[in-house]
This record gives sequence, C-alpha cells and structure tokens, in this order.
Amino acid sequence: MILVCGGAGYIGSHMVYELIAQNYEVAVVDNLVTGYKQALHPQAKFYEADIRDKAALSRVFEENQIEAVVHFAASSLVGESVTHPLKYYDNNVGGSRALLEVMADYGVKRIVFSSTAATYGNPTVALLTEQDETKPINPYGETKLAVEKLLKWCDEANGIKSICLRYFNVAGAHATGVIGESHNPETHLIPLILQVPLGKRPHISVFGTDYNTKDGTCVRDYIHVSDLINAHLLALEKLLSGAESGIYNLGNGSGFTVLEMIEAARRVTGHDIPMIVAPRRGGDPDVLVASSALAAAELGWKPQVTSVEDIIQSAWDFHRKHPEGFSN
Ligand code: UFG
Repeated sequence: MILVCGGAGYIGSHMVYELIAQNYEVAVVDNLVTGYKQALHPQAKFYEADIRDKAALSRVFEENQIEAVVHFAASSLVGESVTHPLKYYDNNVGGSRALLEVMADYGVKRIVFSSTAATYGNPTVALLTEQDETKPINPYGETKLAVEKLLKWCDEANGIKSICLRYFNVAGAHATGVIGESHNPETHLIPLILQVPLGKRPHISVFGTDYNTKDGTCVRDYIHVSDLINAHLLALEKLLSGAESGIYNLGNGSGFTVLEMIEAARRVTGHDIPMIVAPRRGGDPDVLVASSALAAAELGWKPQVTSVEDIIQSAWDFHRKHPEGFSN
C-alpha cells in the first residue's frame, strides 16, 4: 500500500489516479482544507485527517501495510505565506515532522516529498541546477527547504530514504478531464487567465511589470501535471528498489513571462483576454527556470508536454468541463 498525503489536492489527486492505473493499492490522508472529495479516486482508501494529528496518522499506519509515502500535504501559496508565515511553519514543517515521527514509529523508510523551486529564492543563474544556492525569499520556500533538511537528518538518524522533487510551475489537467486544478480562492496564473474567457472575471491582473526580465513580468517554467506525476512514479519506484536519497528539479527548462502566457492563452482560447497592470505580489522572484538534467540522468525522466499552448489547452479542457471547479 502506498500512502498519499494530500491525495485530494490538485497534484496529489493526479498521483493517486496514476498509482491506481499502475495497480498500486493506495491510501489517502487529506484534511480537505484545500483538497476536494470530487478529486478523490473511488478506489483509494480515504482517511479524512490532518497530518499534524499523530493519533489519526498512527491509525492509518496501524490499519495498512504502508510501503512508502508520497507527501503532497501542505499549504502552497507564495503570497499567502508572506502574510501568514506561522500557518506555513505549522502546517508544512509541523505536518511533515508529525508524518516522519509516525513513519519512524512504524519503520516506514521511503518517502517522495513535494518540494519547490521557491527553495532557490531569487536566483541569478539562467538554468537552475540542484547544486545552486538555496536562499528562499518567502516562507513557503523556507518551510519546504526546512523539510528537505529534516529529511536529510532523518536519513542519517532513522534510515528514511527520501526523494525531494523541486517543482517549478505545475499546470494542466488529467487527460480524461475528470480531475484538474481547482482552488478556492484561485491564485495561480493559468487558471486565473482562463477565468476571463469563461466569463468569470473581466480581466487578468499582471502583478508587476518592473521585474528584471525581457518584458518586465515574472518568468516561470511551466510543467504539465502528467509529466510531474510521471517523475513521482519514477522516484517512488527508485526508492522501492533500494535507492539512496536525492533531490531533483522538475521543469521543462524554458521560461515564459506572464505576458507571454496571456498571449498563449489568447491563441488557445480565441478570446482577447483583457489585462490590467497591478502592483507586485509579495515574495515573487524575477525568474525561475529549471535544469532537469539530473532527473533525466538519474530518474530516466523526460517531459512529454513541452509546449505552453498544450499545457494551457489541457487546463482549458478541464475548466470548460468544470467551470465552477470543485467544492466540498
Ligand atoms: N500572476 C499574475 N497575476 C495573477 C496570478 C499570478 O501576474 O493573477 C503572476 C505571479 O505574480 C507570478 C506568476 O504569475 O509571477 C506565476 O504565479 P503563480 O501564482 O501561478 O505561481 P508561483 O510562481 O507563485 O508559484 C508556483 C506554485 C508554488 C511554487 C512556485 C515555484 O504555486 O507552489 O510556483 O516557482 F513554489
């Protein structure tokens, strides 16, 4: 049995679908704060619980033979982390600590951890490698980096092997359109852009046009959720076959500005998508683009959906099917 923490959330639910497609047995722990029952796979064994609740987590480990954990459960908004740092330390660091304590209690020694490009801070290199300096500029990145370090010490002390995956900007939806990105409130760029052609907002706000980039708007590396999940599967299988701990970037290796993303969405949707310029959002670095050479070499990973139009098209297919998103 594989335990997926946060398996009712955007990325976690895609992992659950893929694990079940690969014939794994799956248990899900999710507190449904940002996850949705509609995103749960019907074949997953669901526990509505918070990972900070050690008693509830212990019951899950007691009732199931957990081979490995894939850990997505976290608060994950850069802007919110700047205004609510305590929430991020409590949920992300406290939650991971509780999970690791229970794993140690039950002798479970393999974990795939959702980390982030936000661990790098505001880098100056064009293509980030895992060797580059980690210097977060927001509490979200700081808490994810703290958990990476905690995992390193738990490897030494408890023999827990971990693969930390540093995601760049994840987008798109499941090929079936059954699950996809649904947040309430939504804060991510692609779903917000798509709310304009859906008639749910009059325009997209561009947060800052004075960044040190070619058009002044932030540059990000967008990666399709199915490629991201494929990397998780490779990481999990590597750990199950006895691999050592590791840290890998997951991105496509090309950067797009906010304005370029709006332009690409205009091409995909055929809508003119009006925009307005708004002030900067706290905690946003200028540029984040990944080198994923290490994941290619050591996990055998290769992203398949590499054009931003295809990534936006995938999100657009989902949002047209679920214009109101999910709700509990
Ligand atoms: N943006 C806008 N207008 C909006 C929403 C976003 O201009 O209405 C901009 C942001 O300022 C940023 C870019 O679009 O420059 C992307 O913003 P997102 O909120 O979509 O994504 P982030 O880059 O902030 O964060 C995402 C994940 C994090 C992860 C990070 C790593 O949400 O979990 O990528 O780069 F850590």
